[in-house]
Amino acid sequence: MAAFLLPKASRIKKGMTYSFSNQHDRVIPVKVYRWNPDDDSNPRLDTFDVDPDECGPMVLDALISIKSCHDSSLTFRRSCREGICGSCSMNINGVNQLACTTSMVELSGEIRVYPLPHMEVIKDLVVDLTHFYSQYASIEPWLKNANQKTDGERRQSIEDRAKLDGAEECIMCACCSTSCPSYWWNPERYLGPAVLLQAYRWLVDSRDNAKNERLDQLEDSFRLYRCHTIMNCTNACPKGLNPAKAIGEIKKMLLYKR
Ligand code: SF4
Ligand code: SF4
Ligand code: FES
Repeated sequence: MAAFLLPKASRIKKGMTYSFSNQHDRVIPVKVYRWNPDDDSNPRLDTFDVDPDECGPMVLDALISIKSCHDSSLTFRRSCREGICGSCSMNINGVNQLACTTSMVELSGEIRVYPLPHMEVIKDLVVDLTHFYSQYASIEPWLKNANQKTDGERRQSIEDRAKLDGAEECIMCACCSTSCPSYWWNPERYLGPAVLLQAYRWLVDSRDNAKNERLDQLEDSFRLYRCHTIMNCTNACPKGLNPAKAIGEIKKMLLYKR
């Protein structure tokens, strides 16, 4: 049987353990991935014993409490704290999710917090999303309708507006793309489920009249057709959206266009 070994520099070391609650019966061990590009050392997993009654119920509450009270060098992104900005996405107990909407109490036992998988780590839980956002920019996510003269609102019927449901709620957290095996293997050329859901959002917008141009840009064996309907993306979405279905709809549009 083939044996695969990680290079020495990528092996995660056991880190420090910090305990700062007096009520040990309620304590939950939170293991957090740490890596600092300025240290010449391997990543490590630090353990922080936290009490949800003291710091708040969500994983993000634990991270904020650790950073505020115990280790100010812990680095992670967050903003809204209520599942809207998409910045606190990370891998918690093996699942990509938003730290601010993931309850510590509902996860049983110790909690393991890692950065989003298959992304370059900048520091601790912060990954480099530059390429992800440049792919988003590549689908030109804005209304294109040079011909329509308007002196105010661009109106939609209730039915046309309903076509955006399930797509416009996307918060670009990247939980889906970073759980997609096709995106892991071809991140340079495959757009991934998050960006394709956004592409779909503009394709079905009744106010936009660049549908053919948008479809032409997507018709590519890598940009779109690397999706093999594995469905990890849909299972991962913390907003309950279905990017795999949207990708299927884009493929159907291309079929009809032909
Ligand atoms: S359905 Fe497509 S986009 Fe979603 S995880 Fe599978 S391959 Fe990736
Ligand atoms: S589809 Fe869901 S998981 Fe993917 S970026 Fe949008 S909100 Fe995040
Ligand atoms: S902090 Fe905004 S989604 Fe979690």
